[in-house]
Amino acid sequence: MSWERKGKPVSRRKFLSYLVGGVSTAIVAVVATPLVGYFLSPAWRRKPPLLTPIAQVSDVPKDKPLFVTYEQRIRDGWYITTLSKGAWVVNKGGNKLTVFDFDPRCTHLNCPYYWDEEQGMFLCPCHGGKFDIDGKVLAGPPPRPLDRLEFSVEDGSILLSGRIIREG
Ligand code: FES
Repeated sequence: MSWERKGKPVSRRKFLSYLVGGVSTAIVAVVATPLVGYFLSPAWRRKPPLLTPIAQVSDVPKDKPLFVTYEQRIRDGWYITTLSKGAWVVNKGGNKLTVFDFDPRCTHLNCPYYWDEEQGMFLCPCHGGKFDIDGKVLAGPPPRPLDRLEFSVEDGSILLSGRIIREG
């Protein structure tokens, strides 16, 4: 038995080398395709945000902002990083909660702001920015209210989604 390629006879050795090469290529393709899909699929799949618990609702006193620190996990494809962050949680009673982002901070030039108990407002020491308990600008150069963080409450726990809500 003889084989031909483009009208020329092909030796048995050559034919076997074509056969082995073709079978090897097919095996590599069968093995590699799922592996490539496995490593790339996190980038294609839309996953729900990682929720970060920051406090229990019962721990936040009414009308007295509470500063909390937390570790936020951020998903980027198959890679998860952790950032240390802070937030002010306001409980105005009747399930009316607000979480203000502390990083970035003041909406003017990012200075850290704090709650002044005596004046009953958030103060920014850098340029005299003042915000009420709802985050609205009362005085100073800040161009917009304090940034808020999207959250949900499950079993009394306040969970951040990581989304920042900016006004103005
Ligand atoms: S940085 Fe806060 S008022 Fe300027």
